[in-house]
Amino acid sequence: MKNPGIKLLDENGKRLDGRGLKELRPITIKAGVLDRADGSCYLEWGGNKVLAGVYGPREVIPRHLADPLKARVVYRYNLAPFSVDERARPGPSRRSIEISKVSREALEKAIFLEEFPKTQIDVYVEVLEAEAGTRCAALTAASVALADAGIPMRDLVTACAAGKIEGKIALDLMKEEDNYGEADFPIAIMPRTKEIVLMQMDGNFTREELTEALETAINGAMQVYELQKKALKERYKIEGE
Ligand code: CDP
Repeated sequence: MKNPGIKLLDENGKRLDGRGLKELRPITIKAGVLDRADGSCYLEWGGNKVLAGVYGPREVIPRHLADPLKARVVYRYNLAPFSVDERARPGPSRRSIEISKVSREALEKAIFLEEFPKTQIDVYVEVLEAEAGTRCAALTAASVALADAGIPMRDLVTACAAGKIEGKIALDLMKEEDNYGEADFPIAIMPRTKEIVLMQMDGNFTREELTEALETAINGAMQVYELQKKALKERYKIEGE
């Protein structure tokens, strides 16, 4: 996170892409894009492009992993080799295993797992293009895909990050800000109750900065939540209404 003299804020306080400190990158969400999946979502968030597919609840493979009391969730975050400037090595990496674990745990908080004992719900997210904030984009798309699959949940899961650039708290860091900023702080919430289901951090905040960053990220997530709901309503809109 060393900044080699790159200015991330101009004299008017605008960011490299012209955003204000508390502005999100443009986001578009479309639910129901894969025919063979039970639920799916395509999401663009700034320069990120992700595709999520949900399969299940279905038979657990291998069988001995089945839980007699609840569904098993499998979450696979995958960075496509062509999604980043320097080709990403195919297959799981430490990073993708970590992201998959924390994202799965976030979704497990929302899904009514006990309604589907002895089954498995597979959530696959492919990052087609990456430009910082892919874990948030992936998780946000995954929860729309789960809802599209009709899997009962307490609420959608909505992810968004805040960070610190040039000593200021900023919403939703882009690539240069992630590389040369001072901190990145992705969170995910269940928006109706604002219960936090994922929280990670790279860099340092003071106690005051942490409070501001949390508020900033939650405000961002609440905006993303509206877009998730809109995508689902669009998907299930009855013609003529
Ligand atoms: O994507 P996210 O911010 O959730 O995770 P990160 O590990 O902080 O990665 C930040 C960004 O670095 C990614 O979004 C990619 O744009 C980039 N990256 C990369 O270029 N090559 C990798 N092997 C991994 C990440």
